[in-house]
Amino acid sequence: MAQQGILVTGGAGYIGSHVVRQLGENGHRIVVLDNLSTGFKEAVLYGELIIGNTGDRDLVTRILKDHDIGAVMHFAANIVVPESVTDPMKYYGNNTCNTRNLLECCQKTGVSNFIFSSTAAVYGIPDELPVSEETPVSPINPYGTSKLMSEWMLRDLATASDLRYVILRYFNVAGANVEGQIGQSTPEATHLIKVACEVATGARDQVAIFGTDYPTEDGTGVRDYIHVDDLASAHLKALDYLQRGGGSTILNCGYGSGFSVREVLDTVARCHGSPLNIVEEPRRAGDPPALIAAAAKIRDTLNWHPQYNDLELIAQTALNWEKKVQAKKKG
Ligand code: UD1
Repeated sequence: MAQQGILVTGGAGYIGSHVVRQLGENGHRIVVLDNLSTGFKEAVLYGELIIGNTGDRDLVTRILKDHDIGAVMHFAANIVVPESVTDPMKYYGNNTCNTRNLLECCQKTGVSNFIFSSTAAVYGIPDELPVSEETPVSPINPYGTSKLMSEWMLRDLATASDLRYVILRYFNVAGANVEGQIGQSTPEATHLIKVACEVATGARDQVAIFGTDYPTEDGTGVRDYIHVDDLASAHLKALDYLQRGGGSTILNCGYGSGFSVREVLDTVARCHGSPLNIVEEPRRAGDPPALIAAAAKIRDTLNWHPQYNDLELIAQTALNWEKKVQAKKKG
């Protein structure tokens, strides 16, 4: 029997494109569905790219049937926390409602393996660190809520049907493919490492530290930064797990160690070789003080062995990519 295909929604985006590259290198048959609202067709290094919306039930049903899809990896989403605070309906529409439509199509066509991009934002401000998968969920921004509602739909559909899922709760994803083929190209990015690299390469004037009065060691926000290619390999492991009959599960994706905003900015400056222009600003809406993953479950469940657990390498690959992007812009 011919190998079934993998549908990757949002496969032209930052994380999706890194997963597509690894899937392609491992011989999988891939179909990417992306509306190119924040993604780029050049980032899709393998498979067929179909331009369209995840919420388009006719299109998605046709793709699932015509391409004999056996598993869906669902990345397509809006991901900017402050924007989700000012425009929540955009997040409930694109993240939650479109996921509902996609799941309905999977149910109707009998696609039963589903890998979902969720987020540490579902935990809100956790009482304890590190955060385990059993930590109560209580998002403090619409982005986190929009993803949590999708998690709940998956849970309920899995109870009512043959669908099995792996929900991956990403902590802070950063860096770029070490060979430099792809990276984060999101326009008007808000992510700390991306912004810091833009400052280093001269594409932005300054980077702001949002909040210096948090109850953390140096007063700035603490996060668990995971390299995008380690996160991508977790997806391939999750696929293999489902294909071998593994049961539905929720897994944190992080390394289990936290770095403050100041530590991150120092690291980017060190990689760059000179200081960054930094300003201090008030806290940003929707930001918890600290988030660090309890990272044992994913390693045990998926036999996942991260290769890039090194903030310096994360910063260096992000910086290398940013230099490439800026050089291209200058022509
Ligand atoms: C958030 C989500 C994360 C999600 C990601 C997707 C939360 C808790 N986390 O990450 O799950 O995957 O968005 O977009 O909602 N910072 C600055 N200056 C900047 C930018 C950021 O000081 O210019 C600080 C933030 O206050 C935070 C840290 O850097 O403490 C990381 O911020 P960012 O990179 O934007 O990611 P999160 O908001 O943590």
